[in-house]
Amino acid sequence: MKKVTIKTASDIALIKYWGKKDEILRLPENGSVSIKLDGLDTVTTVEFRDDLMADDITIEGESNNEETARVTKHLDRIRNLAGVKTFAKVVSQNTFPKGTGLSSSGSGFAALTFAAVASLELKLSERELSILARQGSGTACRCACGGFIEWLDGDTSETSYSVSLKPADYWDIRDVVVVVDEGKKKISSTEGHEAARTSPFYQARLDRIGNKIAQMKQAIEHKNFMELGSLAEKEALEFHSILLTSEIPLIAWYPGTVEVMQAVTDLRASGVPCYFTINTGFNVHVLTLPEYEKVVAEHLGKLSLVKKILSAKVGPAPKEIDQHLF
Ligand code: PMV
Repeated sequence: MKKVTIKTASDIALIKYWGKKDEILRLPENGSVSIKLDGLDTVTTVEFRDDLMADDITIEGESNNEETARVTKHLDRIRNLAGVKTFAKVVSQNTFPKGTGLSSSGSGFAALTFAAVASLELKLSERELSILARQGSGTACRCACGGFIEWLDGDTSETSYSVSLKPADYWDIRDVVVVVDEGKKKISSTEGHEAARTSPFYQARLDRIGNKIAQMKQAIEHKNFMELGSLAEKEALEFHSILLTSEIPLIAWYPGTVEVMQAVTDLRASGVPCYFTINTGFNVHVLTLPEYEKVVAEHLGKLSLVKKILSAKVGPAPKEIDQHLF
């Protein structure tokens, strides 16, 4: 059982996954489309060791019981597949703030899945890895792939997996990630998924989502940035309208979030192609083209409530690296 380290990027959903039709298997109510974000990475080292009496898990220097339990549960799935009982040492590190709505669980569980599977020398296809990662965290299903990705919702575990629509080098899009706070987000996506159905607008969203996915795939196919950005921004606002109208409203935005959204709208009106999207956190992803990245980052970096700016390109599928974390 070898020591394996995997590096993989988080992703940003252009069409979002919201609501589950099966809580245990993490089957989503709807399909989604995302891009991987090279620059917002998780690195995870896994080693199964006969001398361990329990899994030894450290995430960002800490061993938090809730997170450890979720990781152990996922390791159990992989141990079952391999038919072993050996415990593992796991160390994981992100290059971006965790738990702030930047999908650290997606890259985290994708990296864990790939590292544990490789460490136990299991031979799984990309589809099988995606299905396995999905059971750890929904968005990890997409992070198992690279480039421009579609998660097919599916009605069974075997049919709910992700595919890479286009590789990372297909189209150079940039994501200027605007951090307005590094504290933990208040909305747990697990509770949010459960509450989705309580919004009176949720069914209307589901009725239209197939069409939205088709439009987004067309925008990617034709490399139509204005169409992609505009669809992504409208989708983000629709997604937040579901959050806002759920029983127990979920208000994810901070004043800084709104400041960035308004600045992006103004910047676009001045001729700069840029569009925002936001998950359950308060930090804002601003999609733009490479030639405008600098101007977008400089402009948004000057806003009064902005703490820092991170920059990401379209990223690849998980890959093995030699730099182990222990
Ligand atoms: O994987 P979860 O349970 O954290 O779900 C997050 C869902 C969104 O980030 C809001 C949307 C998405 O598709 O990434």
